[in-house]
Amino acid sequence: MKLGPHTLKNPWILAPMAGVSEMPYRVIALEMGAAAAPTELVSAKGLLYGQDRTARYLTHAKSEKPFWVQIFGGDPDAMAAGAEKAVELGADILDINMGCPVRKVTKNGAGSALLTDPKRAASLVAAMVKRVDVPVTVKIRSGWDAHSVNCVDMAKAVADAGATAIAMHARTRAQAYSGKADWSLIAHLVEHSPIPVIGNGDIFEPEDARRMLRETGCQAAMIGRGALGNPWIFSRLVHGEQTRPTPTMRWALIQRHFNAHLSFMGDTFRAVKCFRKHLMWYCHGLNNATSFRRQVTQIDEVEPLLEFCESFFSQAENDERHAREEVSFNAKSALG
Ligand SMILES: Cc1cc2nc3c(=O)[nH]c(=O)nc-3n(C[C@H](O)[C@H](O)[C@H](O)COP(=O)(O)O)c2cc1C
Repeated sequence: MKLGPHTLKNPWILAPMAGVSEMPYRVIALEMGAAAAPTELVSAKGLLYGQDRTARYLTHAKSEKPFWVQIFGGDPDAMAAGAEKAVELGADILDINMGCPVRKVTKNGAGSALLTDPKRAASLVAAMVKRVDVPVTVKIRSGWDAHSVNCVDMAKAVADAGATAIAMHARTRAQAYSGKADWSLIAHLVEHSPIPVIGNGDIFEPEDARRMLRETGCQAAMIGRGALGNPWIFSRLVHGEQTRPTPTMRWALIQRHFNAHLSFMGDTFRAVKCFRKHLMWYCHGLNNATSFRRQVTQIDEVEPLLEFCESFFSQAENDERHAREEVSFNAKSALG
């Protein structure tokens, strides 16, 4: 897929996720094979007022090429000025968040509130395209609610205003995360959108991602929850690997991720608190994961946390090895 001058090396993209798509995790997803990893949503006004926290969102690594920054806001002038600032700070592509359902965002006419007014959505794109010389993409939901599914109107409006591509989470704002993403709407959008479509919603296994491309004809797929604690979904897509990561693989990556996260956050106490959620995801599907999650929330310091994790993942590795040995023993016995 091409986004202005940038060609993505494959169709697999890490979805922007607040509190997850920070530099350390984006870099890991890219190393694992994701073609791109946009930032989480960043306030255009926050960028202008130069708040420290907002600037941290724009910290990125050399390997992040193209560096794709998602901004949000409801006012065209502020969005254009925020876009300019983001480009100054290194953005190669800008994305506009038009899907966030959170009230703090929608009450200012930003995020999914833009779905109710394609003209206003287009005015944000037009203001940004006029001000900066990088591709501008948008990320929408399929509509505000079941009675106002307007993704095709949105695509036409933002394309007319100069948007380069459109990503769609195939649920309405009213659905939040309930039900299933309606991929037929992605196919419908592909058919009628003047600009390339990136499909999104309910990819949890590599095969789901391939199926989304096959069934909808979208040019690329964004993976969100399916990549939480599971950046291997990208290596499995790229290399066609069948197997899930072993506990030992997870523990090795956790150490790397945690160290990068500590340097990124600076403040150790906050870093530990924020990292605990990644641990909740990294243990998914392992023996005693529930008790691991409960205990992890009680640990506030680096060394005790690492020791606890090491012992959990090494026990999980032993459990898996025993289970494999038992299967192979039973298979041999069955063969006589
Ligand atoms: C923890 C979390 C944070 C999210 N933050 C953002 C965000 O900052 N910007 C955005 O456009 N979407 C955000 N989303 C939505 C995802 O990008 C994606 O559209 C949604 O999760 C559906 O895809 P999935 O089924 O692959 O998870 C977030 C989702 C999650 C789970």
